[in-house]
Amino acid sequence: MSLEWVIETHKEVQSTQDLVKQAAYDYQPEGLVIHALSQLDGRGRHGRTWVSVEGNLFLSVLLRPACRASVIGQLSLIIGLCLVEAIEQHSNDNLNNRLILKWPNDLLLDNQKCAGILLESELSANGDVEWLVLGVGLNVISAPDDLGIALDGVLNQGVGIDDVRDSFLKYLAQSYQNWLLSGFETYRRAWLSQSYKVGHPVHVKVGERLEKGAFHDIDMNGHLRIMDNGQIKMITAGEVYF
Ligand code: BTN
Repeated sequence: MSLEWVIETHKEVQSTQDLVKQAAYDYQPEGLVIHALSQLDGRGRHGRTWVSVEGNLFLSVLLRPACRASVIGQLSLIIGLCLVEAIEQHSNDNLNNRLILKWPNDLLLDNQKCAGILLESELSANGDVEWLVLGVGLNVISAPDDLGIALDGVLNQGVGIDDVRDSFLKYLAQSYQNWLLSGFETYRRAWLSQSYKVGHPVHVKVGERLEKGAFHDIDMNGHLRIMDNGQIKMITAGEVYF
C-alpha cells in the first residue's frame, strides 16, 4: 500500500517539528506533513536555533517505519537524497558536483549549507521505532547571515517552495516504500556518489572528542567510516568539519 501524504499548511507556528511530534503522541497515522511558512522557534540539530523566516521551506513529516532503531541512520541519508532529487528537478542549472551530501544530515550547495534535516524518534520498550519525525529546512530565498546559502542566490531561476516540497514528498514516498521492501544498498551507493570523494580529509566532533581522518564510506547502517593511520573508524553520531 502506498503512502498517502496529508499536508497541513500553516502561516506561522512555533516549530513544525513539535506539532508533528504531538500528532505522533496522539497516535496519528504516518503520512502527516506539517508545512509552515515561518517558524518562531525553529530547531536545528544539537539544540541550535533554525532561523525560519518566510520564503524558505520548513516542514516536518510523521513516519512509522516499524524498524529497529539501529537503521534510522539509513533513512536519514535517504531523506537527503530525496531533497537533492527535488532540487535538481526544479532547477535549470547543471547542479552536477555542486550539491553535496555531508554526513549525516546536511546538504551543501557550492560548499555551503543550504538545507538541514532533523530526525527525532521514540522507541518502544523492545527497541523498535514507534514513530519518526523528520524535519526539513531548505534555504530557498535566504540564509542566515554568514551561515549557509540560499538556492535563489545561486540558481539561474527561482524555485517554488510548493514545487520543491511536492517533489520531495513524491521521492520520499517512493524511496521509503522501496527501502522498506528492498533495503538500503541502492541508496547507500547513491548517497556515496552524491557526497565527498574517498580520501577527503575530515574532522568529526564526537561529543567532546575530535576524530581526524579521511572520508572512507558509509556502512550498511548509514554510519560514517573514516580512515585514520590505516585503520577504519566507525562513527555513529557526530558533527563533520572539513
Ligand atoms: C539542522 O540543524 O541542520 C537541522 C535543521 C532542521 C530544521 C527544520 S525546519 C522544519 C523543522 N522544524 C523545526 O523546528 N526544525 C526542522
